[in-house]
Amino acid sequence: MVRLAETAGARRHALVQGRRARPDPKFFAGRGKVEEIGRAAEDLNAGCVIFNHHLSPAQERNLERELNRRVMDRTSLILEIFAQRAKTNEGKLQVELAQLEHLSTRLVRGWSHLERQRGALGKTGGPGEKQLELDRRMLGQRVLVLRAKLEQLRMRREVQRRARMRRDVPSVSLVGYTNAGKSTLFNALTHAKGYVADQLFATLDATTRRVFLPGAGTVVVSDTVGFIRDLPTGLVAAFRATLEETVRADLLLHVVDASAPARDMQIEEVNKVLAGIGAEKTPRLLVWNKIDLAGDVPGVERDEYGKIFRVRVSARTGSGLAGLRGALAEFARGCPGAARWHDFHPPTEAQSEPMDSACR
Ligand code: GTP
Repeated sequence: MVRLAETAGARRHALVQGRRARPDPKFFAGRGKVEEIGRAAEDLNAGCVIFNHHLSPAQERNLERELNRRVMDRTSLILEIFAQRAKTNEGKLQVELAQLEHLSTRLVRGWSHLERQRGALGKTGGPGEKQLELDRRMLGQRVLVLRAKLEQLRMRREVQRRARMRRDVPSVSLVGYTNAGKSTLFNALTHAKGYVADQLFATLDATTRRVFLPGAGTVVVSDTVGFIRDLPTGLVAAFRATLEETVRADLLLHVVDASAPARDMQIEEVNKVLAGIGAEKTPRLLVWNKIDLAGDVPGVERDEYGKIFRVRVSARTGSGLAGLRGALAEFARGCPGAARWHDFHPPTEAQSEPMDSACR
């Protein structure tokens, strides 16, 4: 949460934590906790209060009134980061769509104080109702325009994908939790100079490059948006076009930050998102990245049938990349064909084999 806030450009003044059996309907947090937050915000002159949870529009508004400053929930924060990061036309459209859809739920109740000013007879709407009606209509129209534009881009992508299929070029997508090192690995594999930053969601737009693998030919590798726990559903929907690229890849490289204390949770979250977009059956290979930090050695691991299911690398130092290239070449040689990759099996030490023998 703190990393998310910093990524959005915020500086942390205080972290207030609490535990509650059930969220308070009015403020999400309890009365006493809201007072504590208010005091801290006042003393530290904080500009904004961010909740690491989903707030209902009413709770957000009540908190803003009570605390007298801007209140954001986790979804708004992630949307804010996405808005700052989107670079390509498609990325920007996707973020705008997600923002408008998020806003539309807030708008309905946000105007309720004006809505009360209905015409006395109840036949004609008051000014609040007209304004609300107008805003909703404008918003609805913009959403339609955005959806149409995104659909056009999706179709163009589809044409490109078909052309690739005709040429029988296997496609590989990098997926993983935000900050796992996908872009670093993408750049290392493709010798590209993409945007790498120790920030969450540095990459928002799918980037695609060809990689030539000696003895196996060309594969197309795509870098994609990072996943995160509680990714707002609106965002997943807005990024569907980009994520479709992921679903249709021949192979998913699931990049894991092996040095992250929460790596098991992160793997789970990524698997959940993949299942949510219908990619649970796509062949998958685990890339255990940042082994330089985790104190691990490079290597290629196979299951009892000899299929590779995990490769340990450091995208930063380059160690283990030869093994990963070898694994990709092995995949490319068997694609399309019977030799398919296995989904993730829990690894055992016995299956581990040193890199040299794996890359023979
Ligand atoms: P999102 O765009 O948020 O999805 O991030 P990403 O998964 O593309 O991660 P990115 O490649 O931007 O890397 C995140 C940070 O981890 C950067 O500071 C990288 O330099 C660092 N990093 C990536 N790979 C390695 C590695 O193998 N070892 C070490 N020590 N750091 C790494």
